[in-house]
Amino acid sequence: MRAASIAVAALTAAVASARDIVVTVGGNTTSNASLVFQPQRITAYLGDTVIFNFTQGNHTATQAVFSEPCIPAHDANITINGFNSDFRNAGNGTAVTILSVPILPENANTTMWFYDYNTCGQGGVGVINSNESSYETLEGFERNAIRLNGTGAHSSSASRTATGSAASHSATQSSSSSGAERQVVAGVLPLVLAGLALAL
Ligand SMILES: *[C@@H]1O[C@H](CO)[C@@H](O)[C@H](O)[C@H]1NC(C)=O
Ligand SMILES: *[C@@H]1O[C@H](CO)[C@@H](O)[C@H](O)[C@H]1NC(C)=O
Ligand SMILES: *[C@@H]1O[C@H](CO)[C@@H](O)[C@H](O)[C@H]1NC(C)=O
Ligand SMILES: *[C@@H]1O[C@H](CO)[C@@H](O)[C@H](O)[C@H]1NC(C)=O
Ligand SMILES: *[C@@H]1O[C@H](CO)[C@@H](O)[C@H](O)[C@H]1NC(C)=O
Ligand SMILES: *[C@@H]1O[C@H](CO)[C@@H](O)[C@H](O)[C@H]1NC(C)=O
Ligand SMILES: *[C@@H]1O[C@H](CO)[C@@H](O)[C@H](O)[C@H]1NC(C)=O
Ligand SMILES: *[C@@H]1O[C@H](CO)[C@@H](O)[C@H](O)[C@H]1NC(C)=O
Ligand SMILES: *[C@@H]1O[C@H](CO)[C@@H](O)[C@H](O)[C@H]1NC(C)=O
Repeated sequence: MRAASIAVAALTAAVASARDIVVTVGGNTTSNASLVFQPQRITAYLGDTVIFNFTQGNHTATQAVFSEPCIPAHDANITINGFNSDFRNAGNGTAVTILSVPILPENANTTMWFYDYNTCGQGGVGVINSNESSYETLEGFERNAIRLNGTGAHSSSASRTATGSAASHSATQSSSSSGAERQVVAGVLPLVLAGLALAL
């Protein structure tokens, strides 16, 4: 109980300076898919919320791991239940929606790579909290995505994960998002719940 109280207190303190960091999804990708996420690289701290704002075209914001840039993180590493917007067709700015990714104690200081299913193979990728001094840089991630050309072998992964295992995990998470049970929640589970709950 005490540990839980301390965690909640820490979160509350952080919320006082919480920021909303907006990533616009769907810039003009005709000539340069790197522009699908603007900005492409975000630094976010505990209590902040990263808001993916789908403003143009048909895109996803799907978490990945560094080594497999265009595959949902959960498919690459089953212990990670990353965020996944699934396809958001904003048309020509006529159906704007958002996906909110809160930075919680479980994922603070964690590098979260992400991609757009439809442009990943052309460089439609980004990252939250990368360490650009390490060998895992945004430039390296983007180069890898282009080299692997979207890894067509997993062609239906984005929608499968959003409607499948990640969604069912998130339902479980809803009853344990606060209190002592928090400590058994692995990695980024809360993101999926928050993303689904705040979508639209
Ligand atoms: C997108 O970029 C291309 C190439 O630069 C340009 O021809 C096109 O008009 C742009 N579209 C929009 C909607 O800005
Ligand atoms: C695409 O946009 C990115 C980000 O603005 C820029 O760094 C890169 O040079 C552009 N690439 C091309 C081919 O224009
Ligand atoms: C998302 O983009 C739309 C269109 O540009 C804008 O009206 C809206 O305020 C943006 N939402 C956020 C949360 O920034
Ligand atoms: C969005 O893109 C996906 C994958 O390319 C496609 O299956 C889906 O039909 C598209 N959605 C719309 C509304 O065009
Ligand atoms: C999978 O992710 C966990 C962290 O969630 C990490 O500890 C583990 O090493 C990863 N496994 C592989 C094979 O990368
Ligand atoms: C998209 O919307 C912009 C601004 O409203 C308009 O100038 C442009 O012609 C539209 N493009 C299409 C393909 O409808
Ligand atoms: C994140 O890293 C900063 C700086 O290293 C540290 O002060 C902070 O306690 C860390 N936060 C969490 C939740 O691990
Ligand atoms: C970033 O990576 C470098 C090189 O691996 C390492 O020395 C440094 O401690 C890392 N920084 C953080 C904040 O983890
Ligand atoms: C890359 O993937 C696209 C879409 O799956 C495909 O049309 C194209 O031929 C591929 N390019 C290469 C060089 O494999």
